[in-house]
Amino acid sequence: MRRKLIAGNWKMNGLSRDGLALAEALAGMLEEAGVAGRPPSCDLLICPPFVLLPLLRATVSGAGIALGGQDCHPAESGAHTGDTSAAMLADTGCTFVTVGHSERRQDHGESSELVAAKAAAALSARLTPIVCVGETREERDAGRALEIIATQVRESLPAAAGTSELVLAYEPVWAIGTGLTATSADVAEVHEAIRKVLEDLRGQAAAQATRILYGGSVKPANAAELLGTADVDGALVGGASLKAEDFWAIATACP
Ligand code: PGA
Repeated sequence: MRRKLIAGNWKMNGLSRDGLALAEALAGMLEEAGVAGRPPSCDLLICPPFVLLPLLRATVSGAGIALGGQDCHPAESGAHTGDTSAAMLADTGCTFVTVGHSERRQDHGESSELVAAKAAAALSARLTPIVCVGETREERDAGRALEIIATQVRESLPAAAGTSELVLAYEPVWAIGTGLTATSADVAEVHEAIRKVLEDLRGQAAAQATRILYGGSVKPANAAELLGTADVDGALVGGASLKAEDFWAIATACP
């Protein structure tokens, strides 16, 4: 049984005061639930902007919330102005990093090959990469969603990943930040297809152990349905992760 993972992708939001208040509120909710004997049945992760990581480290690690980066560079170090290495993230207390988010693919022209190199760098630094894939509206309307996603998964996973822990995130581009969500039937179909590709690439045991998250306008109102969908092992939450109550409501909607 795969334990669900609820990951908050804060994107480029929050100054120190807001970030700390949000992390403290979540830590407080987790602690209260623990004291009441009702801890959520999922793992919690937040991925704040890089500059907030050192500030939030003590608060979240004390509470048992994992910390993740939103991106990393494929190289270990060097002349890459403005970039952050996976080792730097690990050194700041991160255990996860998202790679290949559609906003990176779109805004920075990131290819799946680059995403695979980033995921490999994450694994070398002992981080768990959360590899994001997803089709555009045009691709879905043209009936090409499954084919596009399968290709993205094949090209975005590092060849030498062995059986190391990886997380996949299916995020239809048209559902991100739009209030639109895929139907649970579509999500189940895509997640099943992703798991088949994983079986092909990594063998059955690793594929069965891999968590596949859904992302794209996950909110308290639709969390229970999405998280109860076959093959959905958690959620990657953008907008709703910026409000402690909403993020908590999503976490506690895990079956
Ligand atoms: P959203 O973002 O929840 O605001 O749609 C999800 C994501 O981009 O990870």
